[in-house]
Amino acid sequence: MGRFSADWLALREPVDAASRNQELTARLCDWRRGQGHLSVLDLGSGAGANGRFLAPLLGGGQHWRLIDHDPGLLARIAPFPDCPGPFQLETICLDLAGSWERLDIPQVQLVTASALLDLISTDGLARLARRCQTWQAAVFIVLSYDGTIHWEPALAGDDRVCKLINRHQHTDKGFGPALGPDAAPMLAAMLEERGYQVELQPSPWQLGPEHASLQYALLSGWAAAVREITPEPADWLRIWAKQREHLIEQGDSRLVVGHWDLFATVNS
Ligand SMILES: C[S@@+](CC[C@H](N)C(=O)[O-])C[C@H]1O[C@@H](n2cnc3c(N)ncnc32)[C@H](O)[C@@H]1O
Repeated sequence: MGRFSADWLALREPVDAASRNQELTARLCDWRRGQGHLSVLDLGSGAGANGRFLAPLLGGGQHWRLIDHDPGLLARIAPFPDCPGPFQLETICLDLAGSWERLDIPQVQLVTASALLDLISTDGLARLARRCQTWQAAVFIVLSYDGTIHWEPALAGDDRVCKLINRHQHTDKGFGPALGPDAAPMLAAMLEERGYQVELQPSPWQLGPEHASLQYALLSGWAAAVREITPEPADWLRIWAKQREHLIEQGDSRLVVGHWDLFATVNS
């Protein structure tokens, strides 16, 4: 569960980078200027896309610990480019659904993640919020799916597919029932209860004909997710997917997929 191919992560990496909320990223960089040497945890790091984006922006002395349960993805992480200064990169193979206790790290200033939060359960988020508070760490968690998918041109079937995808989002992804689109607002509320000042900002994917490969991959993944939760033969789904495929092939398909970026700092 919660397995992702390196090819999929490589396909989304440049789109993720372009979609991040710039205001919130700038806020993180402002916060960083008030910090010394940074100890950073990147949860569900995959092959390192989040660190590759953030570390050069943060600058200065940094120790990154990249955590994932997939040793194959961790093995693909190359040293981050453009990170002069004292810079340390460590990988930790760990199942975040169960073994937080093994993370014996006394000081963490920043907990970050990208494209992870929607996989996690209520209990998993509560444990995450508790750990962040214990460390008094800032939290920067980006690209969490928000439940919105808008295709252009619209087709009959779009809303039905979106509702079923969002139902699938709540199935177990290894942490117990996942929160899917509710995860980012839920973590925001949990952190606020723990004395954090929290900001949520949108970071939608805006895909055009130049992103045909990513559109095909999403279409195929979403059709599979819908089949998984509605196992009876579904002609409407086959027809819908064929029409969508044709539009992508013709260069006539646009797609917006909503995400949230979250930045939280401890109130002093
Ligand atoms: C959508 S990918 C995002 C990867 C990376 N952050 C990025 O932006 O490219 C989600 C990542 O979470 C990891 N993951 C999922 N469930 C996990 C778990 N229980 N413990 C640790 N890592 C997990 C997956 O292996 C995968 O690398």
